[in-house]
Amino acid sequence: EKDMGTDLEKVLISKEEIDAKLAELAAEIDKDYAGKDLLIVGVLKGAVMVMADLARALSTPVTMDWMAVSSYGAGTKSSGVVRILKDLDTDIAGKHVLIVEDIIDSGLTLSWLLSNLTSRGPASLRVCTLLRKPEAAKVAIDVTYVGFDIPNEFVVGYGLDYAEKYRNLPFVGTLAPHVYGG
Ligand code: PRP
Ligand code: MN
Ligand code: MG
Repeated sequence: EKDMGTDLEKVLISKEEIDAKLAELAAEIDKDYAGKDLLIVGVLKGAVMVMADLARALSTPVTMDWMAVSSYGAGTKSSGVVRILKDLDTDIAGKHVLIVEDIIDSGLTLSWLLSNLTSRGPASLRVCTLLRKPEAAKVAIDVTYVGFDIPNEFVVGYGLDYAEKYRNLPFVGTLAPHVYGG
């Protein structure tokens, strides 16, 4: 176990809970996409851990692509301004696409991404997210696969960062308020 130091307040979701939930989600996805070609799209950088573990939990053969968008910069609040830092390598027209995210907070990133990808003409477009904060939603988003609904606290770990730190924690934890001036 990594040293949590004094920056973290508590473990919110353990590695074991994440693994169990991803196995459940993978079973649903396997069932829903049986016989179809599925492209999973990970949203860098936060979704790297979910993509890696979800992809390995799936029985369905998938192809994987990545987009890098960022709306947070170094702060703790979404700016709402989404920048494409890296686009998909592949044309998604006519393909079954599943966007994989680590967290839906305000929903602004995904809302923007959904309209962007919809305009490219995929056969279907759905969302899978490990975490969602219902109390923080600024836009309603139709999400097919949700791991955990969590309270409106600043969380880090398992891909999620604060100023690029804590992404490699194997669990999801809450950050102590003193770290971000709370
Ligand atoms: C985080 C997170 C989601 C998004 C959710 O990404 O990984 O992609 O914010 O926030 P929202 O629902 O309020 O838009 P971030 O922009 O921090 O980039 P990162 O994945 O590289 O950390
Ligand atoms: Mn992200
Ligand atoms: Mg971030």
